[in-house]
Amino acid sequence: MQIIETKAELLRQVEACKRQHKSIGLVPTMGALHEGHASLVRRAVSENDVCFVSVFVNPTQFNNKEDLAKYPRNLVRDAELLDSIGAQFMFAPTPEEMYSAEEMNTTFAYDFDGLDKVMEGKMRPGHFNGVVQVVSRLFYLVQPDRAYFGEKDYQQLAIIHHMVERSALKGTFGDLQIVGCPIVRQADGLALSSRNERLSEEEKKIATNIYRVLSQSVKSAKSASVETVQREVVGAINAIDGLEVEYYEIVDQSALLPAKDFSHAIGCITVYCGPVRLIDNIKY
Ligand code: PAF
Repeated sequence: MQIIETKAELLRQVEACKRQHKSIGLVPTMGALHEGHASLVRRAVSENDVCFVSVFVNPTQFNNKEDLAKYPRNLVRDAELLDSIGAQFMFAPTPEEMYSAEEMNTTFAYDFDGLDKVMEGKMRPGHFNGVVQVVSRLFYLVQPDRAYFGEKDYQQLAIIHHMVERSALKGTFGDLQIVGCPIVRQADGLALSSRNERLSEEEKKIATNIYRVLSQSVKSAKSASVETVQREVVGAINAIDGLEVEYYEIVDQSALLPAKDFSHAIGCITVYCGPVRLIDNIKY
């Protein structure tokens, strides 16, 4: 596998692939790779001639400097994993290579038709602007045929779909297909996340309650109302020592607006486990 650090080299490699009419799969990541990322990369490798994986902790999507500083980084281990599963290129630029000083300090303005005003968007103002800023730049640079994202970040996936399919950028990225991939969980249900690296063994055990409660709520949803299920989930998780719900919202899977019933609904949750902010979701 080749490691690329500059946009110029990335463009050279992409042009070479295009000249040979090779299909390109892109997996954007922020590194600290785990089995969840590996599942995206395996899929990209199997569905395309060439797979590029970006590993870049994008500063413009963090509205909290401490969170950015503490975000786990391990480029050597990431490169070994990507090599072992057959990715051809890892793109790992510095922030200075990716952005000019001006870009780093100005807010990228983008209209999400309200998708960014709820849940993560409400809690982390500007977060999705930063995500779209980096993802659209990666799309311009890599010109992929397919790009792969995990469903754990469900709102992010919805916003990227919106950017490619419904927005002013429609058509800009050719026939790019956005591929959403299922959440990968440990045997005990905990959704894999780079942030899990910051949990102690004890906290990891406690955090398994998030998916346990979400799964139980699917059973309650057969007879209870949306409001009742929402309240039950928050109550059950907050009753566990070491967990604190930031929000739990049951929303329509496309519009991300509060669901009236459970048809086409998804429950999205953010929970603090000690100082670590974990997200998860469940479809009803
Ligand atoms: O999901 C992530 O890891 C990031 O938000 C992404 C899509 C790589 C953009 O920085």
